Amino acid sequence: MKAAATPRPLLRATLACLALAATQAQAIDLGRGQRLYNLHCASCHGVTGLPVLPEVPSFAMRERLDQPDMMLMRSVKTGKNIMPPFLGLLKDPEIIDILQYIRTLR
Ligand code: HEC
Repeated sequence: MKAAATPRPLLRATLACLALAATQAQAIDLGRGQRLYNLHCASCHGVTGLPVLPEVPSFAMRERLDQPDMMLMRSVKTGKNIMPPFLGLLKDPEIIDILQYIRTLR
């Protein structure tokens, strides 16, 4: 009987999908993003994304968030206006986690 051979590619494809899903879930850590945001960013941008100072964009209103992550990351690294530069303080994957968290604020 050759029937047993048929499900194998399907099984392999399923395992590949599960492995991919696992890596993607690991790649972004919203919990870490939230912790770092509350620590370094909320003093100006507000815990809920509503700014606490004038001239600060409102993430709750999705301001500035139409830009790709790489552009936003550059501003966070170099600093902008009264926003201090975070280069050397935060690693790229940490900034990405923070940006993903910011995108969840409403
Ligand atoms: C001292 C206050 C302050 C802190 C702390 C601060 N920001 Fe900002 N942020 C600002 C201000 C002000 C702007 C608007 C700058 C401008 O365009 O004039 C801004 C803009 C931004 C933008 C939009 C940049 C762009 O290019 O449009 C992002 C994204 C951002 N901040 C993320 C962060 C993150 C992430 C942190 C924490 C790691 C942080 N900010 C901490 C004040 C702050």
